[in-house]
Amino acid sequence: EQSVSFKNCMKSSAGAATSIETIALTSSSSQYEQALQSFEQNPRWVNSSSASTSPTTPLVILTPLSASQIQAAILCTKKLGMQIRVRSGGHDYEGLSFLSYSKAPFVMLDLNKLRSIDINLADETAWVQAGATLGELYYKISKASALHGFPAGLCPSIGLGGHISGGGFGTMLRKFGTAADNVVDATIIDANGTILDRKSMGEDLFWAIRGGGGTSFGVVLSWKIKLVRVPPVVTAFNVQRTVAEGATKLILKWQTIADKLPEDLFIRVVAQNTGANSATVQASFNSFFLGGIDRLMPIMKQSFPELGLQAKDCTEMTWIQSALFFGGYSKDDALEALLDRVTTFKSSFKAKSDYVTKPIPEAGLEGIWKLLLKEDVLALLIMDPYGGRMSEIPESEIAFPHRKGNLYNIQYMVKWDVNTAEASSRHVRWMTSLYSYMTPYVSNSPRAAYVNYRDLDIGTNKPDNTSFAEASVWGVKYFKANFIRLSQIKKKVDPRNFFRNEQSIPLFS
Ligand code: FDA
Repeated sequence: EQSVSFKNCMKSSAGAATSIETIALTSSSSQYEQALQSFEQNPRWVNSSSASTSPTTPLVILTPLSASQIQAAILCTKKLGMQIRVRSGGHDYEGLSFLSYSKAPFVMLDLNKLRSIDINLADETAWVQAGATLGELYYKISKASALHGFPAGLCPSIGLGGHISGGGFGTMLRKFGTAADNVVDATIIDANGTILDRKSMGEDLFWAIRGGGGTSFGVVLSWKIKLVRVPPVVTAFNVQRTVAEGATKLILKWQTIADKLPEDLFIRVVAQNTGANSATVQASFNSFFLGGIDRLMPIMKQSFPELGLQAKDCTEMTWIQSALFFGGYSKDDALEALLDRVTTFKSSFKAKSDYVTKPIPEAGLEGIWKLLLKEDVLALLIMDPYGGRMSEIPESEIAFPHRKGNLYNIQYMVKWDVNTAEASSRHVRWMTSLYSYMTPYVSNSPRAAYVNYRDLDIGTNKPDNTSFAEASVWGVKYFKANFIRLSQIKKKVDPRNFFRNEQSIPLFS
């Protein structure tokens, strides 16, 4: 049995000194299901496909306690012809960190025990291990300094391993760019089991792991990140308007200003139906400002008077309170809420993404509202403005390519609680129709997409061998012109394509 061979191989590896039984689970173990599902966000996969196309789960779940155990696991899986998947926070939208659509047996590395965070205020950096979450990082930063932060995503349980590998953005992207833009060093274990840092991996590989998506090049062990300075007071507001209250006109105006506002100001729009039998679409203008209300009000009066924002709509708070607020908590909740890794609320969902380069006209928006109202479950669009720092960084600076020329990113999402095969296919079909409707309004050639909002419907690798040309169908959507360089680097650092999944970077050919 392959899991026995794997464990035997691990036992004989000098580096894996700990008893293998304490770090490895197989499907016969009573803790296996719990370990597999604890960080899972999206139970949709269980029912979404027929038996022949449904994903397989790991033969072994390995929770390494040290880098040497990962090195041993890479060498053992390679020797036994097995594959490997890596899970940091488990938030992959298609479950690629713990599921596989190829029939090859695989070991899942669960990095949740490798999550140390070492903050160095003297040079305003931190070394963070890949298994740490955004919430843990934000919490640790706030304990060390009230005047520092880090520009990354909103959901505190996201893992740093996957998030930074794909870019990673949140409320401070207009001021500081993506999380990946703020990485200054990293350690990674390659397909030979060698640990490399920025110097030994070289600038090509260091470029590729900042935005090129997880798992194509190796197992990221840690990132050295640059902390950013935040003011003692930041401000948040959330103003809601239904279509009947003029939301459409407000979004028309928002599209013309959101990417041009001062970099300190981020206003996103969440447009959604209001759940089952929804009669209306509601837009939330959801904003974060690096400063106090006094400075925010004149900017809003000048740039977006139509919103009618008043000081009483705004709440001042510290940066770390804003992490709670945007993470779905109340700003006055205990900071320890940020440390919660396990998602208690799970619903099935399907998401897709687009980039908008010219404002969507009124008729276009009205068509979106009609489609949202056709769904009988929660369906929404999250529109995140770009511009600012995002427009200053060249597309080829790191592997994450979505820069100047983008007004905003859209994430489409539909969520449902009754997880049946029928519900899955119905809601996924609805999403496909929305995506098709959006074609004339969004970027084209390529129709760009954000790799951290992973979407297997835009194309996948074949289980064994996918050519560069075939993979370009989805690759250029995620990485634009950087896809070529990514696949050239892949060929150089992993010529046997050991690190692969349904959307890993193929070898250049
Ligand atoms: P997970 O562990 O599932 O990994 C994701 C991918 O990276 C997988 O392919 C995995 O194999 C690979 N990987 C993971 N660790 C690795 C490592 N150490 N080395 C190499 N490869 C590794 N995004 C965003 O930019 N802003 C946001 O605000 C949000 N908000 C958000 C909310 C919620 C509820 C979800 C579910 C997701 C988001 N995201 C997001 C998307 C998120 O950034 C994306 O899913 C990340 O890839 C998640 O990283 P994890 O480590 O959690 O996932």
